[in-house]
Amino acid sequence: MKVISTEKSQILAARIATALNTTLVDVKFSRFPDGELYLAAGKLDKETVIVGSITDSDALVQLLLLIDACEGSQNYLVLPYMGYARQDKKFKDGEPISARAIAGIFGKGIKDCITVNIHEPSVLRYFNMPVTNISLAGDIGDCITSMGLSDPLILAPDDGALAFAQSVASTGGWDCDHLEKTRLSGVDVKMAPKKLCAASRPVVIVDDIISTGGTIATAASMLYKQGATDVYAICVHGVLIGGAYTHLKVGGIRDICCSDTIERSCSRFSAAKSIAAALKG
Ligand code: R5P
Repeated sequence: MKVISTEKSQILAARIATALNTTLVDVKFSRFPDGELYLAAGKLDKETVIVGSITDSDALVQLLLLIDACEGSQNYLVLPYMGYARQDKKFKDGEPISARAIAGIFGKGIKDCITVNIHEPSVLRYFNMPVTNISLAGDIGDCITSMGLSDPLILAPDDGALAFAQSVASTGGWDCDHLEKTRLSGVDVKMAPKKLCAASRPVVIVDDIISTGGTIATAASMLYKQGATDVYAICVHGVLIGGAYTHLKVGGIRDICCSDTIERSCSRFSAAKSIAAALKG
C-alpha cells in the first residue's frame, strides 16, 4: 500500500503514510498553457490511499485526475475536508444540493472512502461507495489538554454543534454548553451560554468549520463582557476565508487552531492517526 495526494493535502498525506508505515507516491503537478490541470503519478502499488481535500474547484478537479491516474490499483479515497458539504439541501427554489452533486462524482475506481467530521452526516448517503466518517473530537480534546487551561468551559456555537462539543468535553471531563442567540431588537443580538456561566474562566469554542470567523468573533466579544478570562477557538476544518484569522485575533480570540484536513499555519493537530486507524479497519 502507498499513499498519494493532491497538492493541497501533501503534508497530511505524508503523516498518513508515516502512520501506516508506508511510503508516498511522487506526483508531478503542472498546468497546460490554457490553465487546465495536469499531473503524472509515479509508480503505484497494488493498493493506494488517495488523499485530497476539496478546498476549491481546482482541488476537486485535481483529485478526479489523481483517481483516474490510479487506475489499476485498489484505491481508498480519503476526503479530509469535503467542500460543498454545507449546501446539503435546497434552501431556496432553484438551488442545487451541492453536497449530493459532489458526493455523486466519486465511486468509479474507489473501494472505500473516509471523510472527517463531514458537516452534515446525512450527505453520506449520496456517495456511491461505502463511507466511514471519522471524528477528531478526541484530537481536539488532546489539543485542549496540551493548553493546560484551568477548568475550561467548552462551548458549541449553536445547539446543532452541541453533540460534537460534548464529545470534545468528555475527553477531559470539562463542562460543556452551547451558545444561545437572543434577539434583543431589530439590530441587537445577545449570545450567551444556555445554561452555564462563562465568568472567571477560560472558554474554548469548538466547531467543525471556521469559515469567516464571524460567528466566533461575535460570540467572543459577548463572552468577554460576561466575564470570560480568555476565549479560544478550535475547529477541525480551518477554512479561514479572507481575513478570518485576523478578524478572530482582533476580536480577542487568544489562540486559534485547527487540524491539517486543510493545511494551515495554525494546523496544530493532525487527522493522520485517526485516518490511518480507520484505514486499518
Ligand atoms: C455551520 O453550520 C458551521 O458548522 C460553522 O459554524 C460555520 O461554517 C462557521 O462559519 P463562520 O466562521 O463564517 O461564522
